[in-house]
Amino acid sequence: MSRLEQVRETLNKYGQPHLLRHWEELSESALEKLLTQIEEIDFPLVARLIKNRDHQHSVEPGGADDRAARAEAPEQMVRLPQTDADWQRKKEAAKAGEQLLRDGKVGAILVAGGQGSRLGFDAPKGLFPIGPVSERTLFQILCEQLLARSQAVGVEIPYFIMTSEATHLPTVAFFEQYKYFGLGEENVYFFQQASLPAVEYSSGRILLESKDRVATSPDGHGGILRALEKNGMIGVMKDRGIEHLFYHQVDNPTVTVCDPALLGYHLREDSDLTTVAVAKTGSEEKMGVLATVDGRTEIIEYSDLSPEQAARTQDNGTLVFWAGNTAVHVFRREFFESLLSDDLSLPFHIAHKKVPYLDDSGTVQTPESPNANKFEQFVFDALPHAKVALVVEENRDQMFNPVKNAEGNDSPATCRAALAQQARQMVESAGGTIAEGITVEVSALLWSAPQELASLVSGQVFEEDTVVG
Ligand code: UD1
Repeated sequence: MSRLEQVRETLNKYGQPHLLRHWEELSESALEKLLTQIEEIDFPLVARLIKNRDHQHSVEPGGADDRAARAEAPEQMVRLPQTDADWQRKKEAAKAGEQLLRDGKVGAILVAGGQGSRLGFDAPKGLFPIGPVSERTLFQILCEQLLARSQAVGVEIPYFIMTSEATHLPTVAFFEQYKYFGLGEENVYFFQQASLPAVEYSSGRILLESKDRVATSPDGHGGILRALEKNGMIGVMKDRGIEHLFYHQVDNPTVTVCDPALLGYHLREDSDLTTVAVAKTGSEEKMGVLATVDGRTEIIEYSDLSPEQAARTQDNGTLVFWAGNTAVHVFRREFFESLLSDDLSLPFHIAHKKVPYLDDSGTVQTPESPNANKFEQFVFDALPHAKVALVVEENRDQMFNPVKNAEGNDSPATCRAALAQQARQMVESAGGTIAEGITVEVSALLWSAPQELASLVSGQVFEEDTVVG
């Protein structure tokens, strides 16, 4: 049987023969490309997702709808330090975390597979210019933080960067162009996550984007488990002696990359998965929330909570779901391995999206309302599988300033303002003065090096916008 016939047989079996409707019009190479894309689709999985997609949010039993109703306020948590004893514990945690870093047992994971579509930015989000004076990109700031941390502990910390079909090539090219921001090519590992097809809501048909392409989107950051394994990253981690992974998203430059205190808490509690929470601004804020369900720590995504559920209060009047998910986690490497070896399938979440598609006559249609389902796994759904899971509360202003929307909350403007405000505090504590209305940006290379910063700014008065470092 020819390759074309084999693919056709699979498509017939799964009720998707239309994906080859235009094959006769394609060049040999375009047909080749389409066949390869179709061969990569996990049809049994997609068939299961299509069959179960009428469940509103999550297609697996014990899915989000059910959990949200049973959820209570999070319990296993290190709150913000209040007392001298709390501060002392944080100091000790930072010391333990630094030692772990110095022993070369920590790697960092950056998830950068999403596109900046909400931002209206037509490139991988990491290329977004965010430095308030320099316009340095999100990637540069995150890499320089990691470089500074590596230099401070005297160990090269590997960076595992997850890309997707859409972001892979431009991301790799950008890192090459900027010489890996000083991290060294041998310390930066790109690995690509898989994609899943978009499915027309009314018919259950997989959509074509063009005559030679199926409409797909990344399989969610939960796809990281398969992607790490498929791309040999677990082996790399083992070979390099990496035991714990600091995980973060590309959209937040003020996260403290490889925060020693966080690593220390994680180590002290012997945690499989530690996650950072901040207080939500209110019940409507679009953040996942930390919760306890049946005695286990979980994160419930905002789209899986009704407004009434999100607004539920405790006896003392505070929100049950006050603790927002910053998407900063620390994973024990062996926890990744156990999730993979037990083949614990994370649930798939269903999104309803507007997906442009090619109709049967070969014309591209741009729908005005959601017409298709996309399916995603979320990495934080691993939380209930952790033997020990820990939540650490952090200072919101300090560490959570993501770039998500073009305007308003969590926008480039709010993020740049936070970077400028933090730089002002750093410069003033280091003995410098910044005139009113002036913006100073401090290189991320100096954020955890107060003495070095002081040697550059102490006694200086900044009267025009400046980049330090
Ligand atoms: C996410 C969290 C939310 C949290 C908020 C904090 C999810 C589903 N929700 O919301 O609970 O409160 O961040 O900022 O994560 N990504 C991939 N591959 C994918 C999908 C996403 O690498 O297939 C990456 C993106 O590049 C981005 C991050 O994951 O770095 C977040 O994805 P996004 O869909 O933007 O989530 P949010 O709605 O911002």
